[in-house]
Amino acid sequence: MLFPVYCILLHSLLLSGVLGHILGISPEPFEKKLFISNTVVTETEQFPGGVLVDENGTIEAVLKKENMDLLLRSDKSNNWKIIDGGDWALMAGGVDTHVHVNEPGRTSWEGYVTATRAAATGGVTTIIDMPLNSIPPTTTLENLKIKANMAKEEVFVDVGFWGGVVPGNEEELQDMVDAGVVGFKCFLINSGVSEFPYVTPEDLEKAFAYLNGTGTVLAFHAEVQVGEETPECEGPECPNPVLYDTYLASRPDIMEIEAASFIASNLHKTDVHVHVVHVSSAGVVPVLEAARDQRIKSGYNGWRGGVTAETCNHYLTLSSEQIPPGHTEFKCAPPIRNNTNKAKLWEYIRDHRLDLVASDHSPSVADLKGANFLKSWGGIASVQFDLSLFWTQAKARGHSLNTLSHYLSAGPARLCGLQDKKGSLRSGLDADIIFFDPNASFIVAPELIRYKNKISPYMNSILTGKVMQTYVRGQLVYSDGEIIGGPKGQLLVNYDY
Ligand SMILES: *[C@@H]1O[C@H](CO)[C@@H](O)[C@H](O)[C@H]1NC(C)=O
Ligand SMILES: *[C@@H]1O[C@H](CO)[C@@H](O)[C@H](O)[C@H]1NC(C)=O
Ligand SMILES: *[C@@H]1O[C@H](CO)[C@@H](O)[C@H](O)[C@H]1NC(C)=O
Ligand SMILES: *[C@@H]1O[C@H](CO)[C@@H](O)[C@H](O)[C@H]1NC(C)=O
Ligand SMILES: [Zn+2]
Repeated sequence: MLFPVYCILLHSLLLSGVLGHILGISPEPFEKKLFISNTVVTETEQFPGGVLVDENGTIEAVLKKENMDLLLRSDKSNNWKIIDGGDWALMAGGVDTHVHVNEPGRTSWEGYVTATRAAATGGVTTIIDMPLNSIPPTTTLENLKIKANMAKEEVFVDVGFWGGVVPGNEEELQDMVDAGVVGFKCFLINSGVSEFPYVTPEDLEKAFAYLNGTGTVLAFHAEVQVGEETPECEGPECPNPVLYDTYLASRPDIMEIEAASFIASNLHKTDVHVHVVHVSSAGVVPVLEAARDQRIKSGYNGWRGGVTAETCNHYLTLSSEQIPPGHTEFKCAPPIRNNTNKAKLWEYIRDHRLDLVASDHSPSVADLKGANFLKSWGGIASVQFDLSLFWTQAKARGHSLNTLSHYLSAGPARLCGLQDKKGSLRSGLDADIIFFDPNASFIVAPELIRYKNKISPYMNSILTGKVMQTYVRGQLVYSDGEIIGGPKGQLLVNYDY
């Protein structure tokens, strides 16, 4: 069914090229580009061919080889620059919908320059910044503008923003929707930072009422406190906080499953698309599926029932059994669980029962880590390694590059309503493109890391799949180990910033 579309496009391309030639119209002042590869990878197909990009960095056509050759032969004026990746796969750049940039306010943890350079290096061409860990948090229109103002001169890839839902900010939500936040995030449990309190059932009721009908997404950190919070234990009889299992036991699956059930039980109150971020416990998935089945089936950018779930590369890569005592670079919330759970998450990926994969890039300074799993900051920074982490695991399980594109580009773009701009190789979309060598491998080492604090549970690991070049809206931003030129990213907001 795609062939006629290519034909029409090809026809108009040939016409405009030939006419331009006959009439002697001089070439466009900006460069048109033709990206070529033996393996063009879309969400569903792989073929030799190319991607034609107009002078504004928009994809003009995705061409199979025979059509591309025809075009090359017919239009001798050839006023486009050819970029031939050979055997490197040509794919849509990654879209990472879960990145904590932390600037302003906690800029020693991370900032726009370092986070977006890391993203570009890892083939992630769009990041969506989480509303918390910066000061101020993105909980008002004013705060959104403060953050966007910090970011505007500094970004090497495109950056969108989540807003936050916190107690008492319901009057701000519509203004933030209008300003272009991709959705909102809230917590059902302590967030770890005091300026971003969690919502009670009453707060949530208000948020649902205010957001109803806006077409936005409300994303949940879905863990709830189950039973009484256990008082801090001090003394020789206490479980050893240097052991990972002590931390794991403090955040059991039931906290996630109860949170998912709570969300499900509230869905009749709103038409808002709800999304669960960073699912760790596989037990969450059937609960959300049941909720989805109860709901109206249409709308929501095509997400059935408007209930979606993401998991993260650390849950798909790591398991509790392998975490050595004192290694708090493995700490995140919800926690990394056992091998059985990880295998189950991969089953859900295979069966399309999870919707997308994100990094939950959540860095901090080394001083906040330390050897105590109960006291350490929880968060893993990995935006730079998203694609390679996923591909290392996926390839070993027999998945194709289409799976990578589906879960790390198209899925996340659609979550944020960006499916007509980002996340796929399709005419009319931004030419956010990578060349990816699926067979190359590399070792994670501090000198490769471009995010600010060079802490990683993957240090010294071998990853398969290497991003060779990254283009944002047709412009080269990363090539073979180097960031190219200055910041070329744009902010995905609806006002002139
Ligand atoms: C590129 O952008 C300019 C300015 O917005 C516009 O006039 C032009 O038509 C665009 N070119 C294409 C091929 O869309
Ligand atoms: C990667 O390896 C596969 C299988 O050996 C091969 O078919 C493919 O051409 C290789 N791709 C690249 C980019 O080297
Ligand atoms: C939510 O909005 C829809 C229209 O989008 C409306 O039909 C429904 O009654 C509203 N629900 C509530 C609880 O306000
Ligand atoms: C893995 O964890 C689940 C609970 O999260 C538990 O029921 C199961 O017994 C564990 N499996 C192993 C092999 O430890
Ligand atoms: Zn997070």
